Amino acid sequence: MNIPQDRTRLFETLAGLLATQLIVFGLGYYMLNEPMRIAESQTQILQIQLDDAMTLYAQNCSVCHGLAGEGIGAIPALNNSALQTMAYEDLTKTIARGRFNTAMPAWSKEDGGALSDYQISELVGLIQSGDWNATRDRVVNLGLAPLVPFVTDPDPALLAEVANLPDGLTLQNAITIYAANCVACHGADGLGTGIAPALNDPLVREKTTDELTRTVTFGSAGTLMAGWSNALTTQEIASMISLVQRWDEVPAGILPAPNVPIPTTEESIALGGDLFAANCSRCHGPEGQGTPRAPALNVKLFLTDTSDLAIQQIVTNGVPGTAMPVWGDRMTESEIQAIVGFIRQWEATAPEVAVPAKGGGGGPPWMRNNTQTTTTPSGGQQGTVQGQGQGQGQAQSQQTAWWQAIDWRILLLLTGGLSIAFTLIFLGFESLHRRPRKRE
Ligand code: HEC
Ligand code: HEC
Ligand code: HEC
Repeated sequence: MNIPQDRTRLFETLAGLLATQLIVFGLGYYMLNEPMRIAESQTQILQIQLDDAMTLYAQNCSVCHGLAGEGIGAIPALNNSALQTMAYEDLTKTIARGRFNTAMPAWSKEDGGALSDYQISELVGLIQSGDWNATRDRVVNLGLAPLVPFVTDPDPALLAEVANLPDGLTLQNAITIYAANCVACHGADGLGTGIAPALNDPLVREKTTDELTRTVTFGSAGTLMAGWSNALTTQEIASMISLVQRWDEVPAGILPAPNVPIPTTEESIALGGDLFAANCSRCHGPEGQGTPRAPALNVKLFLTDTSDLAIQQIVTNGVPGTAMPVWGDRMTESEIQAIVGFIRQWEATAPEVAVPAKGGGGGPPWMRNNTQTTTTPSGGQQGTVQGQGQGQGQAQSQQTAWWQAIDWRILLLLTGGLSIAFTLIFLGFESLHRRPRKRE
C-alpha cells in the first residue's frame, strides 16, 4: 500500500521539478536571447535610416557628389575611407553648415538649408556605413542621375557670337559663370533638369529683377538653391540676372547637353520594358522590330547612329507631322529615360536589317514580360510596374518566411509545455491504474 503511494508522490515531485526546470530553462533562454532581439531590431532601424538616406542623397547630393559618391570634377568623393573614419560630429557639422566660400551649401534648417538634424544624421550614417552600389541604383531609379557634368564648357564659336550682342561682354561673362556653377542643376542651355527648374523660360523672364536678384543672392530656403552671395560678387550676380532675362537672345547650343549614356538598373530596364509594351509596341512592334505603322527601333543602324540623348529628345518631343506622338507631357523624364535604357539594351543583338512583324510570337526572354503587360491600359502602367515589383518581393519573402517565422523560443516553450502535459497525463493514468488494483 505504501509503496505505490510513495511512487505516485515521487512521480508528482519529479514532474513538478521537470516542469519548473523547463520553465526556468525556457525563460533563461528567452532572456539570454533578448539582447540579440534588441540588436536585430536596431539593425532593422539602421536599414530603414540607410534606405531614407539613399533617397536624400539622390535628391540633394548626387548632382554634385556623383551617382555613387564618386565625386564629379573638382567636387570631392564621399565614398572615401577618410570620411568613414571622420569623427561623427565633424562630419555632421560639415553637412549642416556647409563649407564657407565653396559650392558646398549649408543643409541644416537652422542655416537655411532643406534638411532636418535627423535627416543629416541619416546621411552621416550613409557616408560612414552605407552601400554606394545600392545608392547608385536608387539615384538612377529616381531619374536623378546627373547627366550634365557639374562644369560644362560653352561652345567657343557661339560664345564668340554673343560678344556681338548689345552689352555682349556681360552676357559672355555670365554664360561662363553659369557653365561653372549653375549648369549641373539648371541644365544645358538653361533648360532645366530633374532637380531644378529651367531658367531659359518665358515665365522666369517675366519675373522682376529684384525678385531674381533676391533668389540668386540669398537662395530659396528649404530647396537645393543655395545663396550665392559668398561665392559671387554683386556684379557677377547682376550679370546672372541679365542672362536669365535675356536668354532668348542667346544662341541655342551654347551650353550643349553632353552625350553621355543614360545609366540603367535592373529596375529601370524593367520599367522601361513595361512602358514600351504599354505605349510603343502597338506601333513599333513588341520587339521594336517595326510594323507597317512605325519604323523599327531594334535595328543596328538606328541604334549606332542615335545617341541616348537624341532618342530621349525624339520620345519627349515626338516627330511633328508624323504619327509619332509627344510623350513629354504624359511621362516623367525618368520614365522616358527608362524607356531609352530599355531600347539601348537591344543594341548588342540588334539585326542589321529590320524584319517588321505583323504578329508577336516567341522572342528573347525580356519580351515574355512585355507581352504579359501589353493589355495593361496606358494610364495604369506605373501602378502595374510597382505592383509587379511588390509581388516579386512578397513571393521571395514567402519562400524564406515559413522557416524563418518559426521562432526558436516558441518551439522551446511548446516542447516544454507538451512534455509537461504528457508527463502529467502519464502520471495521472498511472495513479488511476494503481488505485483500483489496490481495492481488488
Ligand atoms: C552644389 C554642389 C554640392 C552639393 C549639392 C552638395 N555638395 Fe557636398 N561638397 C561640395 C563641394 C564643392 C565640396 C568641397 C568643399 C571644400 O572644398 O571644402 C563639398 C564637400 C562635402 C563634404 C566634405 C568632403 C571632404 O572630403 O571633406 C561632405 C561630407 C559633403 N560635401 C556632403 C554633402 C552631402 C551629404 C550633400 C547632400 C545633402 C552635399 N554634400 C551636397 C559641393 C556640393
Ligand atoms: C544644386 C542645384 C542648384 C544650383 C547649383 C543652382 N540652382 Fe538655382 N535653383 C535650384 C532650385 C532647386 C531652384 C528652385 C527653387 C524653388 O523651388 O524655390 C532654383 C531656382 C533658381 C532661380 C529662381 C527661378 C524662378 O523660377 O524663380 C534662379 C534665378 C536661379 N535658381 C539661378 C541660379 C543661378 C544663377 C545659379 C548659379 C550661380 C544657380 N541657380 C545654381 C537649384 C540650383
Ligand atoms: C501611333 C504610333 C506610334 C506610337 C504609339 C509610338 N510611335 Fe514612335 N514613331 C512613330 C512613327 C510613325 C515614327 C516615324 C516618324 C518619322 O517619320 O520620322 C516614329 C519614330 C520614332 C523614333 C525615331 C525612329 C527613327 O528611326 O528615327 C523613336 C526613337 C520612337 N518613335 C520611339 C517611340 C517610343 C519610345 C514610343 C513609346 C513611348 C513610341 N515611339 C510610340 C509612331 C509611333
